[in-house]
Amino acid sequence: MAKYRIGLGVTGGIAAYKAVEVLRLLQKADCDVSVAMTRHATEFVQPLTFRALTDKHVIVDDYDPENPDPIAHINFSQEIDLLLIVPATANIIGKFANGVADDFLSSTYLATTAKVMVAPAMNTTMWEQPATQRNVAQLKADGVYFVEPVAGELACKTVGTGKLEDVENIVKQALALLETGDRRQETGDVSGSLAPVSDLSKENFLITVGGTREAIDPVRFISNHSSGKMGFAVAEAAAARGAKVTVVAGVTTVEPPANVNVIRAVSAEDMHAAVKAEIAHATVFVGAAAVADYAPANAADAKIKKDGRDVLTLELKKTPDILSEVSKNRHTGMLVVGFAAETNDVVGYARTKMEKKGLDLVVANDITKAGAGFNTDTNIATILTRAGGEIELPLMSKREMADRILDEILLLRKN
Ligand code: PMT
Repeated sequence: MAKYRIGLGVTGGIAAYKAVEVLRLLQKADCDVSVAMTRHATEFVQPLTFRALTDKHVIVDDYDPENPDPIAHINFSQEIDLLLIVPATANIIGKFANGVADDFLSSTYLATTAKVMVAPAMNTTMWEQPATQRNVAQLKADGVYFVEPVAGELACKTVGTGKLEDVENIVKQALALLETGDRRQETGDVSGSLAPVSDLSKENFLITVGGTREAIDPVRFISNHSSGKMGFAVAEAAAARGAKVTVVAGVTTVEPPANVNVIRAVSAEDMHAAVKAEIAHATVFVGAAAVADYAPANAADAKIKKDGRDVLTLELKKTPDILSEVSKNRHTGMLVVGFAAETNDVVGYARTKMEKKGLDLVVANDITKAGAGFNTDTNIATILTRAGGEIELPLMSKREMADRILDEILLLRKN
């Protein structure tokens, strides 16, 4: 007898072909898989492929005269342990979230008492649409599990979040859900994430985020392109893993996550003062901010007039190096993590920074790469460890990268 009975729902996206591999991997893991497809999915993959592999009728339409079961959506939905949707389009997510049952798969969702896991895949803009995100949030609240889409190059030749997670990982998560049961019921977590972890519950994070603004006069300033996305992603991930998190946020273009304490700072001087006030409580300091290295030595009190001047010379003075100071004065047990935004010899410069500033970990981003650095939702980086390790992080969402950075911080704690 098969270990688990899985209803594999395939919907109409370019990633539909990957459902074939999911089916094979599930079968290898001793699962009995029945396949249901939406009409649009059949435009991408023939039902015959799934029929040949499962030796079962593949249901697309309840009313199809070839369908051997007159009340298929009821029987199908009652005879499975898991309804797994790969890939899930924005359309099916919308139907599930709103109780629309106008085809076999959406009727099956309404009729099933089995666990439901959804692996979305779509264009980034479609994924990020408030309507899609509303529907996703509704389904998570309804107890549906998500295997979140990942960042990468999409079929439409754009780069962003929306790519189907690796099929091996989808299968791994599906089996973990079946093997471990609904962990959210034990923890009260309704986020839809499979493995609520609190491995950072003993840590207090202090994180600098965003850019700073250095006043030239009351109208003008020197600044940079930092949006705060990377630093806030680290803050969100750390809080999700049980840490207490305070962020000292400079100028950002995105909102801070919930569940973190936010202190605002505009200039490097303000950020320095805020960090000094908070550092005694921190067990981990992360310098994700793009702090201006220089600020005007004497900001003018009134707007500088251009009359009669073809050239304006500004005298700049060095700002306090917050990260170096935190590292130099750290209390026992505190970990100090820096970022490095570089354009050439990325790892070389980052390694020098690590040594100069006495850091435990440096996240080096090459800001010249597409999808990396300032104001992107994704990043590409190398984590450098004090022991000489180099961990390459390929293109992924900043939120995913935040978890990878936290994994390395945790490893430092254990060693
Ligand atoms: O905010 P995003 O748009 O998401 O972009 C993310 C990012 C590219 C800003 C971020 O990932 C990043 O790389 N931040 C560090 C950028 C930077 O200023 O690097 P740096 O090489 O100049 O500084 C090295 C380290 O020293 C950084 O940890 C920085 O926070 C810290 N520093 C620098 C100067 C200073 N006066 N005080 C500091 O603490």
